[in-house]
Amino acid sequence: MIGNIGSILRDRPSYIIDPGAGVGAFTVSARRVWPTSTTIAVDLNVVTLGLLAARAASREVGELAKKQGRVDLVVQNYLDWISQGWPELKGPRLVLGNPPYTRNQQMTADEKVRAREAAGHLVTSGLAGLSAYFLAATINALSSDDSLCLLLPGSWCETRYGRELRSWLWHSRRRRIEIDLFPSKVEVFPGTQVTAMILSVGAEQGSSQPFISRAVDLADDNGRQTVVRNSEAIIDRNGPCPPSFTRLATSKSMKVQTVRGLSLGSVAKIRRGVATGSNRFFFLSDGERLLEGLPDKALRPALVKASHCPWDTLDLEAHEAIGSAGAPRWLLDMNSCDAAETDEDLKVYLAKGRSLGVHKTHLALQRKIWHTVELVATPDIFLAPVGKGHHRVILNEAGVVGSNNLYGIYLGPLAPWSPRELAAWLRSGDGQQALNGMSRQYQGGSSKLEPRSLRNLLVPVE
Ligand SMILES: C[S@@+](CC[C@H](N)C(=O)[O-])C[C@H]1O[C@@H](n2cnc3c(N)ncnc32)[C@H](O)[C@@H]1O
Repeated sequence: MIGNIGSILRDRPSYIIDPGAGVGAFTVSARRVWPTSTTIAVDLNVVTLGLLAARAASREVGELAKKQGRVDLVVQNYLDWISQGWPELKGPRLVLGNPPYTRNQQMTADEKVRAREAAGHLVTSGLAGLSAYFLAATINALSSDDSLCLLLPGSWCETRYGRELRSWLWHSRRRRIEIDLFPSKVEVFPGTQVTAMILSVGAEQGSSQPFISRAVDLADDNGRQTVVRNSEAIIDRNGPCPPSFTRLATSKSMKVQTVRGLSLGSVAKIRRGVATGSNRFFFLSDGERLLEGLPDKALRPALVKASHCPWDTLDLEAHEAIGSAGAPRWLLDMNSCDAAETDEDLKVYLAKGRSLGVHKTHLALQRKIWHTVELVATPDIFLAPVGKGHHRVILNEAGVVGSNNLYGIYLGPLAPWSPRELAAWLRSGDGQQALNGMSRQYQGGSSKLEPRSLRNLLVPVE
């Protein structure tokens, strides 16, 4: 969810509000992603808020404690707080969380009266559950630069009581709207039969914004549950508001541009390049190679940093040019070299490494032989995990190996794209937006991708 809304946000939020914060799954994650923003956790339940306070305090150590943002805990009905606490906060504000999925029948008459007041004209039926009132009250409070991202029961997408909410979303054309729908069989809310969906609403922009509907699912990623995107449809909002939001992509009357996609991890492997523990020692420039006289079979062509290759394609000529510029481009890789005891130049170089303490680095100590780095295959594409709103993508035509500053993408036999096609899409506006959407944002505008989220990247298939 943070990835979704992170890519939609125009500015870093000053305040993040977690409505019905519970023990703070969203509060804690938001602190990590936006450490200089103030996060406000609102919940009726003083016990869970206490747990949240303990959890947040245990994490507010080291670097995080030095940032100016903080966590404020508010024990109050969110529907009251939104009219009292909210107006005091200077935007942009982001409402992020999962409101209570209390059913209409479980609400007291008094609660319903207060909820109806907060929801105003956005909920007019008496059948709405508490989460629909939370959504309506939040929408009513939004200023043009505020946004929201909520995990909700999906029923408002098709029932009579969700009609006004759907209409507001449909007609707010200057806001980007994204709805992610889980299949009804998936138990997102444990122990309930409630269908789940994620609603993301961006800040108002100067021009019309897309309305995106996606089918998502839960998947197992090495024992950890993640969300995968199965298909995406961009819906044309020029016509009248449809009666339901759950079948938008299949409805005949809708103008829909459907993007069929595959998650990258289903057809490709993604891994970091070689971790050496001392790049200074293990990666050599042309000059160093010449000076040290190391045997050819101990060296592999390599790329240490994306900035060493300012071109989209790393072919042999580009690799030569990196060498001419004086950057390191040879990896000392002893995996297929047995001359460590016999080659005099190699012996001298390894002794030099020992005298520099390279054999005692954490990584060297983990290895069977300190100077023999892990054997990493040459990837099809390099991707720079860190960028400033832009992640470099380099096609590896020269077949070099990367350092651990880079991710390598290895296409499997079932991949429907060639390396060149995939690289071109990753560099495109859509590709970069998708990458930024799943990267972690840091102060100063830099963003970082994790291999785990990259595996979930939905890449279009023709
Ligand atoms: C679905 S849980 C949210 C769980 C939370 N995201 C977490 O990480 O634990 C909903 C929460 O809303 C709280 N809640 C219920 N009614 C509320 C209200 N009117 N105002 C504020 N919080 C409320 C409940 O106490 C519960 O903690």
